[in-house]
Amino acid sequence: MKKIFISILSLVMLLFFTACGNTAENKSRTSHEKSIIATKDAEGKMQNKILVVYFSRTGDNYEVGNIEKGNTHIMADIIAEAVGADTFEIKPVKSYPANYRECTEVAKQELSADARPAIEGKVTNWQDYDTVFLGYPIWWSELPMPVYTFLESYDWNGKTIIPFCTSAGDVLTGKEDNIPKYAKGAKLREGLGIRGKRLQENQDGVKPDIVAWLKKLGYIK
Ligand SMILES: Cc1cc2nc3c(=O)[nH]c(=O)nc-3n(C[C@H](O)[C@H](O)[C@H](O)COP(=O)(O)O)c2cc1C
Repeated sequence: MKKIFISILSLVMLLFFTACGNTAENKSRTSHEKSIIATKDAEGKMQNKILVVYFSRTGDNYEVGNIEKGNTHIMADIIAEAVGADTFEIKPVKSYPANYRECTEVAKQELSADARPAIEGKVTNWQDYDTVFLGYPIWWSELPMPVYTFLESYDWNGKTIIPFCTSAGDVLTGKEDNIPKYAKGAKLREGLGIRGKRLQENQDGVKPDIVAWLKKLGYIK
């Protein structure tokens, strides 16, 4: 019931954003992808088994204006640093409009078509990771469609997914519960939702929430 309420609330909020969308000039997307370097110890055994995968958009966005580093990207970097993980950015082959309003339109069309937009690159050493933190912004109360493209592109058997998202509130929408339907074989653990504006404007204030969640999950002491 609570999740249905949150979904409805997200939708109402989105309609509000669309009406009030910031019209700052478009800015082209910058690349934030980090290379994935799996480290080995002296015996050649893999040490780093955690991967932080995220989708995030730069440009004009709700509440934050024209940003050069996406809200979810900021959260992904905080998590990766805290747990010592590698990162991988889900980058659609065709970038989304930097204009917020235009982006909401494209996203709405993709959602209703249940589209699977093509994405760039592949995670190297996929088999070495056992835990994947999966981050995305909430789009129309849902995961953006390129995230589903990513989920359907890998073998998830034996892997654990920990979702995290950013949106207009400090919430998850409940859609994360469906992730194992697309990432077949994956085990799902408790996620975390953080308001994007907080990440953009007050990282120090947000970090304790993220650290508390990671501690609860047992990834940091
Ligand atoms: C296409 C689109 C749809 C959105 N839909 C919602 C929504 O349904 N609910 C919500 O709370 N925020 C919504 N937002 C706001 C984003 O979730 C929020 O700004 C998020 O932090 C953006 O993350 P990013 O900078 O990593 O892309 C939407 C934003 C966009 C661009």
